[in-house]
Amino acid sequence: IMSSELDIRNYFEFAKELALKAGEIFKCGFEGQKIVESKEHIWDLVTDYDKKIEDALIQNLKTKFPDHEFIGEETTATDKKKPELTDKPTWIIDPIDGTLNYIHSHPYTCISIALAICKELVIGIIYNPLTSELYTAMKGQGAFLNDKPIKTSNATELKNSLIELEVFSLQVTNTKNRDIRWGRLEAFIENTQAIRYSGSAALALAFVARGALDCLYMDRLQPWDVAAGVLIIREAGGSVVDTKGEESTGKELPELTDDPTWIIDPIDGTTNFIHGFPHTCIVIGLAIKKEM
Ligand code: IPD
Ligand code: CA
Ligand code: CA
Ligand code: CA
Repeated sequence: IMSSELDIRNYFEFAKELALKAGEIFKCGFEGQKIVESKEHIWDLVTDYDKKIEDALIQNLKTKFPDHEFIGEETTATDKKKPELTDKPTWIIDPIDGTLNYIHSHPYTCISIALAICKELVIGIIYNPLTSELYTAMKGQGAFLNDKPIKTSNATELKNSLIELEVFSLQVTNTKNRDIRWGRLEAFIENTQAIRYSGSAALALAFVARGALDCLYMDRLQPWDVAAGVLIIREAGGSVVDTKGEESTGKELPELTDDPTWIIDPIDGTTNFIHGFPHTCIVIGLAIKKEM
């Protein structure tokens, strides 16, 4: 199942055109009537357009590339089984990231499409049809916004950084989660210049790639939320790491590069933190050329 660079470019061109076409369906639903349903939780909403867009993307890709696999939020989640990433070329699709924004006519929402081959991300496409912003990356080829190269910011200090936190989607009915969430918020408020939260993990990743955000902290996300954005950030010169600075979930999480990389544990000892036991701290590390 080796894919040449030419194959990948071919997949990319096809997927890019498809994303632009899917953008028309996206705009139609954004401006018009949509059917809104909730999934497992009342706040976990989905529209008929999430499904329409995912179907359009998968059907077209399947017809063109019959031996490719698919992990899509609306198809995988309803299958009730965890999607498994194999070595086969696998498209990882979030038809609408920021569905809640989409439903509320808040234009910070997008389509996210990634391709992994041999468990490695090779294509990332994030498209906001409402602002006509198309973020793209192919492995080893750099990252682009509407075909112009983009770079991550060169901020080196957290206190001068505009940071986005994607921690608000933790289930609010659970007090433990609520405390963790507030704890993280507090830690970041005290150590950064300012915090943003806009409701689309994929677009937030794209904003890091273009240098509009210096840093992004997120948790409890799914592969389709991050796959495209991770590659776009890496190709824009940035890093993505877990809270231990290590590879973790999603298999395609990055290796520590030579670039200056902040490694952050906002609350080490969360259980102590929750119980008021003062054996807890904030951990911030900086690795340059993989050295702490
Ligand atoms: C959600 C968005 C949101 C994040 C949630 C995601 P969806 O994706 O990315 O910003 O905080 O965790 O589930 O459901 O709108 O595709
Ligand atoms: Ca969703
Ligand atoms: Ca999503
Ligand atoms: Ca979605």
